[in-house]
Amino acid sequence: MLICVNPCRYNLIIMNVRSAKISDAKAIYSLINFYAEQDKMLFRSMADIYKNLQAFTVAELDGKVVGCCALEIIWSDLAEIKSLAVDEANTEKGIGKMLVSSATEQACQLGVQRVFALTLKPDFFEKLGFEIVEKEKLPMKVWSDCAKCPKQQNCDEIAVLKIVS
Ligand SMILES: CC(C)(COP(=O)(O)OP(=O)(O)OC[C@H]1O[C@@H](n2cnc3c(N)ncnc32)[C@H](O)[C@@H]1OP(=O)(O)O)[C@@H](O)C(=O)NCCC(=O)NCCS
Repeated sequence: MLICVNPCRYNLIIMNVRSAKISDAKAIYSLINFYAEQDKMLFRSMADIYKNLQAFTVAELDGKVVGCCALEIIWSDLAEIKSLAVDEANTEKGIGKMLVSSATEQACQLGVQRVFALTLKPDFFEKLGFEIVEKEKLPMKVWSDCAKCPKQQNCDEIAVLKIVS
């Protein structure tokens, strides 16, 4: 159980950040695809979510899943933060920050030195200690998702990277 304070509103919210369970899959699907429909992140199917469920962490507030984030190992020294989404009604409460911190901590514990994300929100990641890097500096294996993305050559995502150990 984790406690998080929103310093702007002086609210105290109690949030549980934990590994995802099978019963969370539909909530994860809804969170991600709510934003995917607005072209803000990549769509993920239920099959894809079930297949990768062990990579997901969720944030739970009052028994409801209000955020999700996946950490995918790419190589011996590189992991990717994917599918970070916070319920629109619960943004600006520190939930995204806690999910990213949990993912970077997980990478650190696994012994993975670098964590990156491809994002339309680089400012958010910069606040959390990530730095913008040239996408071309990331290994080719990173681009496996691009084949599934409708934007392909018109990719507008920015790569951000953090050294975690
Ligand atoms: C981006 C997103 C994950 C942020 O989640 P959140 O729970 O609102 O973020 P937090 O409340 O933890 O914010 C942490 C800090 O980042 C800031 N921040 C939040 N969203 C931001 C944004 N879009 N741009 C810049 N800074 C942002 C907050 O103001 C806060 O700053 P502070 O520490 O100085 O107070 C969430 O808005 C979201 O799910 N967006 C749609 C999907 C998306 O874009 N996902 C990222 C794709 S990789």
